[in-house]
Amino acid sequence: MNINHLKILFSEEQIQRRIKELGDEMNKFYNGEEVYAICVLKGAVMFTVDLVKHLNMPLKMEFIRLSSYNGGTSTSGKVNAVDISLPDLNGKNVLIIEDIVDTGLTAKFLLDFLNCNFHTKSTKFCSLLDKKVSRLTDIEPDYYGFEVDDKFLIGYGLDYDGYYRNLRYIGYMEKSELE
Ligand code: IMP
Ligand code: MG
Repeated sequence: MNINHLKILFSEEQIQRRIKELGDEMNKFYNGEEVYAICVLKGAVMFTVDLVKHLNMPLKMEFIRLSSYNGGTSTSGKVNAVDISLPDLNGKNVLIIEDIVDTGLTAKFLLDFLNCNFHTKSTKFCSLLDKKVSRLTDIEPDYYGFEVDDKFLIGYGLDYDGYYRNLRYIGYMEKSELE
């Protein structure tokens, strides 16, 4: 993959502006109540750290790690819980933070896991990107930053074979240019 073929989809400014809007919306919804923000590693790392800086309620950050890709550009269809250790979330407001909802299999896995293990006060799912066209489940994020087409996206946490997570913007490659 050649980084020069990357087309910018969302600039750093666009991303940051939208994250502030999401933060404002969440501050209204939670109205000062404590929140457990759960970052789904690795992809959501950039989004999580930028989003929580806008949240003004008492907040704890948790990190879990799931994987469904094996280094390629499409999901293996099987979600692998690399590390899903969490504190007691009974009676808590839980906010899951993801980079992108694609098929929705990861989101469904996580929501089922929380449902089976805890009676939370509330569970909200927030994803920076929503690839609605590729959905294979009935999952809809409660909050999302941008709806995107069926392109393989990289940057701002999203990787190709582990690379490019450090970009400040989100770009895409035509699928024909990926290999
Ligand atoms: P899902 O389980 O198919 O919804 O996919 C969820 C995970 O796949 C996301 O959390 C991402 O880590 C990864 N993913 C999905 N689409 C893309 C993409 O376009 N670029 C990079 N990673 C992606
Ligand atoms: Mg992810």
